[in-house]
Amino acid sequence: MSAPESASDRRARIVFLVGFMGAGKSSVGLALSRTLGWPFEDLDERIEAREHRSIEQIFQESGEAAFRHIEHAALSSLIRGLGTSPKIVAVGGGAFVQANNAALLEEAGFPVVFLDAPVEELFRRCQEQQLLKRPLRRDPEEFRRLYETRRPYYMKAAVRIDTGGKDVEKVAAETIKSLGLR
Ligand code: S3P
Repeated sequence: MSAPESASDRRARIVFLVGFMGAGKSSVGLALSRTLGWPFEDLDERIEAREHRSIEQIFQESGEAAFRHIEHAALSSLIRGLGTSPKIVAVGGGAFVQANNAALLEEAGFPVVFLDAPVEELFRRCQEQQLLKRPLRRDPEEFRRLYETRRPYYMKAAVRIDTGGKDVEKVAAETIKSLGLR
């Protein structure tokens, strides 16, 4: 007979993907969801649904500080709504950098995975996704500065996966292996 599942086993199956714009958080999240058969949620989509506005509109109409409040409220409600079932969650590039969000994830004890890549590749990937409007993706120099400021925060994640030059399936497979998921 197998031992009953502990609370920490259950927490280990709620995985948060963090990292800079263009890291592939949503596409890797979807690949993990397909492979593991676990649901996937994108925090930015929850924000847009709650606000009935796009991320771009929120930035334009209300500014970044207001966006961060909304993002924190959305993350808190997402966490409160988690039951015992597994889930993959991708959060926007600035979320894990905010101390209040990082504290929520740490208190809850969920595994956090930092998807990383060289900043030139991150910028290129964002350029290729022109349809996705990213208010904080401006010129390459500013992009690099923001990445460098944020990287020490992302490094606090339990696991870092280097995604440079890899396809999403490979990154998903490495994530599964690193976290011992199945
Ligand atoms: C942001 C990244 C975006 C989105 C918002 C702010 C950031 O998400 O949350 O535009 O601060 O880096 P992606 O990382 O999915 O592009």
